[in-house]
Amino acid sequence: MSAFKTLDSADVSGKRVLVRVDLNVPMENGQVTDATRIERILPTLREISAKGGKVILLAHFGRPKNGPDVENSLKPVAAVLAAHLGQPVAFAADCIGKVAADAIAKMHNGDVLLLENTRFYKGEEKNDPAFVADLAALGDLYVNDAFSAAHRAHASTEGVAHKLPAYAGRTMQQELDALTKALDKPERPVMAVVGGAKVSSKLELLGNLVKRVDVLVIGGGMANTFLAAQGKHVGKSLCEKDLLDTARDILKTAAEAKCEIVLPVDVCVAKEFKAHAPSRFVDVDHVADDEMIIDIGPKSVAHVEVKLAGVKTLVWNGPFGAFELEPFDAGTNAVAKSAGELTKAGKLLSVAGGGDTVSALNHAGAAQDFTYISTAGGAFLEWLEGKVLPGVEALRA
Ligand code: 3PG
Ligand code: MG
Repeated sequence: MSAFKTLDSADVSGKRVLVRVDLNVPMENGQVTDATRIERILPTLREISAKGGKVILLAHFGRPKNGPDVENSLKPVAAVLAAHLGQPVAFAADCIGKVAADAIAKMHNGDVLLLENTRFYKGEEKNDPAFVADLAALGDLYVNDAFSAAHRAHASTEGVAHKLPAYAGRTMQQELDALTKALDKPERPVMAVVGGAKVSSKLELLGNLVKRVDVLVIGGGMANTFLAAQGKHVGKSLCEKDLLDTARDILKTAAEAKCEIVLPVDVCVAKEFKAHAPSRFVDVDHVADDEMIIDIGPKSVAHVEVKLAGVKTLVWNGPFGAFELEPFDAGTNAVAKSAGELTKAGKLLSVAGGGDTVSALNHAGAAQDFTYISTAGGAFLEWLEGKVLPGVEALRA
């Protein structure tokens, strides 16, 4: 973290502080269905407000393509944020120009204002210098607390950081700290668990991880492709037959890098992909032609648990099986609980994130026991792929 300026060195009192946050929260019928991202930014907002700064929030919502639309307005989020913050949050119906400037002019020290969706302007995603200048004109300082949007080189996530004194917010700081401990400077041995449906969507991630971790556990649908690459019959299972050579290449790179690959030894198979479909456990050599692999089996769970007990650090992305369909959540639940318990006992540093990982760990009742749960989807994956995150780079002092 030493490379980043944090709020410790920011003099915010009486200043207009542009704070980039991620308010891209799931909404249904105007209601926020998961407020995790809102909860996470509260420490930064409270700290700046308490120190007498004017908190001016920049955020995107959804992926609007043609300018402003009601569906992607941040207005309803302002009320939800205010409720969580326990303090009023004003709203400006534009993120630049007179509307924004007038709203800011009315602020007192410690006030919080949310500006409308930055993506209502094309200049946001293009990181257009004119739009960057319009945003930067509204503030004296810039704080980025949106790690989960840091894989985007957009005006509000990257451009503005070069125009104003820039600082990492507390959540950004915490996230970078956890990720550094998990993969950049980990206590070894390090295990990565990678699950999810397709090898094709995680090729770069697997390629990077085999070079950086000591044990790579592959689960979910993508494990089937690896099993098939080893000559096993996977029946009707999800399997990317065109990637068998790629899977073999990954196994070879892993062997060269002395990364141990852990694949399922037994699996739960069913003939239909639905909750409570009749199923059986079978070892990976005996999957029938009309069966599909839907979860890992108890021997696989035990095998992963033995490996887990031997490592000091865990990075987790993706479920083992179809965790949204009972009882095919059993494999994910069991391993997640073990990881949570080892973490609670002080034996493991565990970090998880990306896609549906967080909901899988919440579902397992284990998320609260992990050392750190990232709120990031795409940014977490890009970080696992070893990519540079433009929003993070722009904060380097
Ligand atoms: C997210 O929800 O992952 C972030 O807010 C980034 O959103 P985006 O994928 O639309 O850039
Ligand atoms: Mg996304």
